Amino acid sequence: MKKYVKDLHITGVEHLRKDYVLLRLTDQTNPLPEMQPGQFVEVRVDKSAETFLRRPISINYVDRANNELWLLVHVVGQGTAALSSLKPGEFLNCLFPLGNGFTIPEGKNKQVLLVGGGVGTAPLLYYGEALKTAGHTPTFLLGGRSACDVLQLENFEQQGHVCVTTEDGSLGEKGYVTNHSVLNETMFDAIATCGPKPMMMAVARYASQKAIPCEASLENMMACGVGACLCCVEKNHEGHNICVCKEGPVFNINQLQWQISK
Ligand SMILES: Cc1cc2nc3c(=O)[nH]c(=O)nc-3n(C[C@H](O)[C@H](O)[C@H](O)COP(=O)(O)OP(=O)(O)OC[C@H]3O[C@@H](n4cnc5c(N)ncnc54)[C@H](O)[C@@H]3O)c2cc1C
Ligand code: FES
Repeated sequence: MKKYVKDLHITGVEHLRKDYVLLRLTDQTNPLPEMQPGQFVEVRVDKSAETFLRRPISINYVDRANNELWLLVHVVGQGTAALSSLKPGEFLNCLFPLGNGFTIPEGKNKQVLLVGGGVGTAPLLYYGEALKTAGHTPTFLLGGRSACDVLQLENFEQQGHVCVTTEDGSLGEKGYVTNHSVLNETMFDAIATCGPKPMMMAVARYASQKAIPCEASLENMMACGVGACLCCVEKNHEGHNICVCKEGPVFNINQLQWQISK
């Protein structure tokens, strides 16, 4: 898939709860290129000597009607803080779309569970829409430490059924995503997950026990984003290094050397 480097025009900067910012970007001259759910953007963070490396941010949503690309940013350091201080009318230099994408199951009417934790929910919104468009039924299972970590609920509700867990019980069921009652009530045909590694491994263990195909989107540290620096490698099931930015970030869990005991 062709990659682009573009100065995208910032049409919206929405400060969501706590340290989360939604950036809306557009190409003022052309329709945005084709992008697959699960792919990501390497954004250039200007105006700071410490942030000369681009930062990887998932494609949160593509609003074709308004020719907008959405990026959901959690402020954790200098780069993401600089992104959160951008203003509408400014430009953001983006290298995109990078990596592979989530699989759209064949056939119709598949029950697909999308499990996200924290800002790992970001790529699941666009994926959920793609599943719905393809005739499947997405169920979103969104987890956070507390209610303020669970974002874009209204957007998710437009695409499918939404279940929530919070560790402090301030929203949805109390506990971890893998304790949610929906896992006992529905038999899913496929699972996708993105978020903290311990959460994804727990989801992978559940999927493995139930023999449900499962994909995980990894958020390893990245620099170049295009397979040149090898700083993002993960071990595959044969013990070989795989480049998360180029061969992923989405992997079938059976491709990974995760110790998931059935
Ligand atoms: C494929 C991919 C998609 C991503 N999608 C999103 C997204 O949609 N929204 C979002 O907010 N973030 C996303 N991230 C994480 C984001 O890239 C990092 O949080 C960001 O690069 C941190 O930059 P910084 O300068 O603010 O922080 P730094 O100063 O570089 O680091 C601050 C802290 O964040 C930690 N950190 C840095 N990079 C990562 C990382 N990749 N994963 C986990 N912790 C990290 C560091 O260990 C450090 O503790 C994604 C990462 C990858 C690889
Ligand atoms: S980030 Fe450079 S090889 Fe993956």
